[in-house]
Formats: sequence, C-alpha cells, structure tokens
Amino acid sequence: MSKLRAEYGKEIDLILAQYPPDRKKSAVLPLLHLGQRVYGYVSQEAKEDIASIIDVDPTHVMSIAGFYTLYHEKPMGKYIIEICNDLACALRGGDQLVEYACQKLGVANHGTTEDGMFSIENVMCIGSCDHAPVMQVNLKFEEDVTFEDFDLLIEQLRSQSVTGQEPLSVVDRVIARRN
Ligand code: FES
Repeated sequence: MSKLRAEYGKEIDLILAQYPPDRKKSAVLPLLHLGQRVYGYVSQEAKEDIASIIDVDPTHVMSIAGFYTLYHEKPMGKYIIEICNDLACALRGGDQLVEYACQKLGVANHGTTEDGMFSIENVMCIGSCDHAPVMQVNLKFEEDVTFEDFDLLIEQLRSQSVTGQEPLSVVDRVIARRN
C-alpha cells in the first residue's frame, strides 16, 4: 500500500467521493495537493501513489503537476516566495523585484537558499493586478511590494522562524506606518 494511502486513507476516500466512480481521475488536483502536504513537494513517490489511486499512468499525473506552478516538483524552502512578473506586474517592476529578491537572498530564480529558508519563484498572474507588483509568501498575498517592503518582510520572516510569530502583511505595515 502506498504511503499516501496508508497515512491519509480517510482523506483520499473523501476526495474520491466527490467524483463519480468512473471519473476518479478527475480527483488528480486535490490528490496532488494532499501529496504535496505529505511529502513537502510532489515527489516521484507521490506521483506514483496518486497514479495508482486514480488508476492512470504516472506520466498523466506528472504532466498535470508540471503544468501548475502551485505544485512543486523539488524540495522547497520553508518560505516559498512567488513573485508575479506577468504583464501588469512587469509594468510595475515585477522583473526587477524578482532580480532584487534573488540578489538579496543569493539564489537563482527557482532556487532555494542554502539554509532552506527561502525559495524564489517567478509566477504568472496571481489575480491581484491592481496592486502590482504582487507576490505570495506561502500563499499569503503581499501587494504593491517595494524593495524596502521585501527587505522588511525577509527580516520579519527570519525573526518569525525564531519567535514563531506571524509577519505583518504589507497592508498591516501601511496601517502601522499611519498610526
Ligand atoms: S499580472 Fe501580476 S497579479 Fe496579475
């Protein structure tokens, strides 16, 4: 029995129950989310487990995992910083922000810092174009990001990893500046 099935049998059954029995391969996306939660990324083992659960060839699962940027196919840092450099963000400095973030953390785009704290990824539109440039840190939005905001966020995330406290979002920081 696969590790995924052995440890998360109940969750898998709940996911599969959302689909007709002859359409279980439609459950591939939520199963990939589950696999990513279990393994930390969508490992080869996770892809093979999922393929066996929905009874498809592993290449089918691999092609879907490779299509979406939310699925990570290699181990990632504790904080995954996804910076949008699609059109609206690019016009407002998204490319420069990716470059700045990589320089600041000493990694290449799609790389992870040696201490395993941060991964940087440029991504396509994440749906907050009116607040470009935008990034997500572990799926939490940061909008209208400046280099100064980025520096502050990195400082906060580093101290958060020591204190266990949540960092302020950009909105929180703007409110804090006003008060
Ligand atoms: S282009 Fe960056 S959020 Fe839409």
